[in-house]
Amino acid sequence: MNTRGVEVIVADDEESAARRVADLLAAAAREGSEIALTGGSTPGRAYELAARLEPNWGRAGIWWGDERCVAPDDERSNFRLAQEKLIVRLDGPPARVHRIRGEDEPAAAAAVYEQELKGTTLDLLLLGLGPDGHVASLFPHAPGLEETERLVIHAEPQLDPYVERVTLTPPALRGARRIVFLVTGEQKAEAVAGALAGPPDPAVPGSLIRSEHGETLAILDRQAASRLGD
Ligand code: 6PG
Repeated sequence: MNTRGVEVIVADDEESAARRVADLLAAAAREGSEIALTGGSTPGRAYELAARLEPNWGRAGIWWGDERCVAPDDERSNFRLAQEKLIVRLDGPPARVHRIRGEDEPAAAAAVYEQELKGTTLDLLLLGLGPDGHVASLFPHAPGLEETERLVIHAEPQLDPYVERVTLTPPALRGARRIVFLVTGEQKAEAVAGALAGPPDPAVPGSLIRSEHGETLAILDRQAASRLGD
């Protein structure tokens, strides 16, 4: 299925969707890619499976699309999720771990991450999608959606967890060679339809994110894909 510039893969269930994403992560790690991870509750299983499929990430670099402004050991931290589900399970840890410093003042952390990211092309960017259509920490109608210069900014949350965020901007996200949305569950079905098949709309930030020079893929389970034909 190909919606508005996105190749859509519909897996039978959440586990199969995680497996598809794990395959992509493992292959990218093997190739020594620059890989950006996402947070939230969805990607954990894909990280576990990716660590099993490819336990040596010794050539890869990892980045994050966004971070919650909390300490790296806080249970809301996107770094902590990747640390627990992926990094500690590897025999060969990633060559480069580019963590967003959620414990620092958000604008300062964004500026530091911008310097770190500048000049790097992300080979694989994994993204989730919120039930409101947000992507990374770019929420509906947020001013950051209009950013054209900066790569990383401080952002305000519109959903739980209500902590400040640091997020890549649309130009930074669009610069990735391959963007992969992983979205599962009935509660995301409407957001998926808006983000993948609807017109570009700041009310649904996911609709604004497509790889500029590469490919955009969405790996969904049946429930998340259920409104795509509407
Ligand atoms: C974050 C994320 C965010 C996430 C979506 C989906 O830090 O919150 O990076 O963009 O991908 O909110 O989250 P769930 O998987 O929890 O639904």
